[in-house]
Amino acid sequence: MKVGIIGSGGIGLAFARQASKAGYEIIISNSRGASSLVEVVKELGGRSKAGSFQEAVQADVIFLAVQWIHLPTVARQLDSWTGKIVIDPINPVAPPDYKMVDLGVNTSSEVVKDLLKGARIVKAFNTFTPELLSASPSQAGGKRVIFYSGDDHDAKRVVRSIIEKFGFAGIDLGNLAEGGRLQQYPSGPLPGLNLIQLL
Ligand SMILES: NC(=O)c1ccc[n+]([C@@H]2O[C@H](COP(=O)([O-])OP(=O)(O)OC[C@H]3O[C@@H](n4cnc5c(N)ncnc54)[C@H](OP(=O)(O)O)[C@@H]3O)[C@@H](O)[C@H]2O)c1
Repeated sequence: MKVGIIGSGGIGLAFARQASKAGYEIIISNSRGASSLVEVVKELGGRSKAGSFQEAVQADVIFLAVQWIHLPTVARQLDSWTGKIVIDPINPVAPPDYKMVDLGVNTSSEVVKDLLKGARIVKAFNTFTPELLSASPSQAGGKRVIFYSGDDHDAKRVVRSIIEKFGFAGIDLGNLAEGGRLQQYPSGPLPGLNLIQLL
């Protein structure tokens, strides 16, 4: 399975490190282009490559690690998102103070789903700092928990398989409206919890 990563900041890189360790073929991109990622790809090793946005979105699964304010631009960069499996680790906060944006009655991932028309969104990997996400998922005789939620069962199955191949324990929270709300930062109760599944 090929994983396309959009964004090479803290969270994009943390996910890329786990994906590389797990043996995935990775194509990582950012706004500055592949030439800015030479050292990153060297560090990642394994089957990782730098590429353009357009190359990364052709992968089987897309990890969308951009800031909330850049979402509308990113959404316009691809003509059709239909059918794409997109992992959404995005927290709905914006500069200058990084307070939560007004989402009305929606969760942030429902807004993402609306912007990336036809994409199969799975919210995951948004509740840890990059440092914790990069760390070994094996802790205290168990596995660190990653929450995920989504409206498409097949997409969730694929994302769960990635979570488990990384070595985490995946906990399905349900759909984007309900599960997404529980794991939403900063309003939900789950972000920041570092839980270990022992069995
Ligand atoms: N940092 C955290 O503690 C944390 C924790 C959980 C979740 N999150 C969420 O994860 C997401 C990423 O966070 P981060 O801290 O990794 O952000 P970041 O360090 O600001 O990195 C964002 C990345 O997005 C890229 N980018 C921006 N516009 C783009 C475009 N149009 N096309 C392609 N790439 C584009 C940037 O490219 P350039 O490098 O070229 O500028 C950069 O690599 C955010 O939504 C955040 O809310 C962050």
